Amino acid sequence: MRNVLTISGLKGGTGKSITALNLSASVALYGKKVLLIDCDPRANVSRWRKIDSNGNDHDLTQVLSGRIRVPDAVSGTDIDGLDILPSGFGLFSMSLKLTRRTENEKLLRLIIGEIEHDYDIIILDSPSSCGYLSIAALTAADWLAAVVTPDDDWVCDFHSLINIVRYIRKSHNAPLGIAGILFNRCNGVEQMEHRTDPQVLKQIRPLIYKTMIPDDETFAREQCFHSPLSLYDIKAKASQAYLEMAREIICAFNLN
Ligand SMILES: Nc1ncnc2c1ncn2[C@@H]1O[C@H](COP(=O)(O)OP(=O)(O)O)[C@@H](O)[C@H]1O
Ligand SMILES: [Mg+2]
Repeated sequence: MRNVLTISGLKGGTGKSITALNLSASVALYGKKVLLIDCDPRANVSRWRKIDSNGNDHDLTQVLSGRIRVPDAVSGTDIDGLDILPSGFGLFSMSLKLTRRTENEKLLRLIIGEIEHDYDIIILDSPSSCGYLSIAALTAADWLAAVVTPDDDWVCDFHSLINIVRYIRKSHNAPLGIAGILFNRCNGVEQMEHRTDPQVLKQIRPLIYKTMIPDDETFAREQCFHSPLSLYDIKAKASQAYLEMAREIICAFNLN
């Protein structure tokens, strides 16, 4: 299977973008070659170092429109080995056009094919919705990492996501596997267990990543919101957790 991992989840604000950015940075800090693709018109991960593509004609929207090729839209970052394919709000109107044909859901997958051998792993940040961009980001991947927070609805949201995975496997004959469930803003296994029905937990426990990302107020500092936290505070609880998560991913994807 290809090392293409989409960070997804249907609920907003669970930490998908923070995870896509910090996980990509942490895997790159271990010396791996990583491409981070921003599939969200809100462009949260593209704002790092002001790579926000508004006013820039080298982004995912331009690639999807066929105006430029993917290598021309990718730029380097402050972290060796980490490249980014940014987005901007133009992606919203592009997605409205592309949503008209089911076949277009495979477009991003085809586009990534041109560069996937240049990287150890490609990580996509998906928006929180059931719309075209989420479907395209999942269809592009061979693996899904669901980011959830320990609240009463998380299992219900996860099951809805699994229904989308089934749709993609069936409609596009895509080999989308579930890499794992990442608990964010979670201060330990007990908190996760407390919010999960024991019968359900029994079934899905093997899917839950050992690493959990704690609630960390360091993210609230202005410069840490849109940048990898490890660049500012490598000792912060969340920086350490994302480095641990990166080791889990490196191991699971055999990147050693
Ligand atoms: N582990 C965490 N500790 C503290 N704040 C967090 C944590 N994870 C996410 N947040 C905050 O939650 C908000 C939503 O995160 P974001 O990654 O944008 O979510 P999503 O992409 O799922 O919508 C952001 O303001 C972010 O700072
Ligand atoms: Mg997001």
